[in-house]
Amino acid sequence: MSFNGKTVVVLGATGVVGSGLCRAYLDAGAFVVAVSRSAERLNELKKTLSVRPTDAFAVAVGDFKDSTSTGRAQVAIDAALAGRAIDHVISSQGFVKFGPPPTQSTAAQLQEALDDGLTINFHAAKALLPGIKQRPATFTMVSGGLAHQPPPDPAMWMGTLKNAAVNAFTLGLAAETARDVVRVNTVCIHFGVAPIGGKQNQFGLPAERDSLALAPAFLAIARGKQKGQVLCLNGWADVDALAKS
Ligand SMILES: NC(=O)c1ccc[n+]([C@@H]2O[C@H](COP(=O)([O-])OP(=O)(O)OC[C@H]3O[C@@H](n4cnc5c(N)ncnc54)[C@H](OP(=O)(O)O)[C@@H]3O)[C@@H](O)[C@H]2O)c1
Repeated sequence: MSFNGKTVVVLGATGVVGSGLCRAYLDAGAFVVAVSRSAERLNELKKTLSVRPTDAFAVAVGDFKDSTSTGRAQVAIDAALAGRAIDHVISSQGFVKFGPPPTQSTAAQLQEALDDGLTINFHAAKALLPGIKQRPATFTMVSGGLAHQPPPDPAMWMGTLKNAAVNAFTLGLAAETARDVVRVNTVCIHFGVAPIGGKQNQFGLPAERDSLALAPAFLAIARGKQKGQVLCLNGWADVDALAKS
């Protein structure tokens, strides 16, 4: 699957999922703009991905926590794009906050959980989606299977909330873009994914495969017809099926 001539912006690029996606899109021939809140972590990412100076890879420091920082992130991304139009956006930002069970949490903790999941995707969509609405582009967010079930530990309930909020946000964006060319989707991952070359996810739980193995599902969506969907990956077999679709 070639992405020669395509431009992909990856938010949350330094993360477990984001880093694998950056490598996979680079390998597929795309020009990749990796976005992180930290220049230092972007330098680390370049080392992790063995990026050479001549590779089609640019970085942008940006934070989508509020409208002011989002404006600055947009300027940094535009500079990294150097006039290229965006073909695909992946927003794989944030992970799961741990906290006290619901009735023992504070409203501030609740707000923080939503900020670290929903709000950053909200600002990312406001910044990057309008410009690609009439292009054969994709805007793909990433969530997790905690969205659909009581969490195994009450300390993870904010993860349930965050993932469900991202999934619900997808439907709002789906309604807005129903008549547009762009395809908005969310990939909801129901299993652990390890960092490139790893065997465990962030919880230290064994992960059968790493984010490089996950990437073909995202590349398939970028090439596919899915539109306005929350695409649940219940297991690695679903990744393989999507990759072959
Ligand atoms: N890894 C798994 O096993 C797994 C399984 C199921 C679902 N998922 C889902 O996949 C998505 C990405 O997960 P991941 O495993 O790649 O997480 P991760 O390793 O923590 O990466 C997420 C990245 O998001 C960036 N980020 C930007 N704004 C943030 C904010 N306000 N708070 C926290 N991080 C922020 C961080 O990069 P900077 O700090 O560099 O900005 C971070 O590297 C999440 O939605 C997660 O629920 C992951």
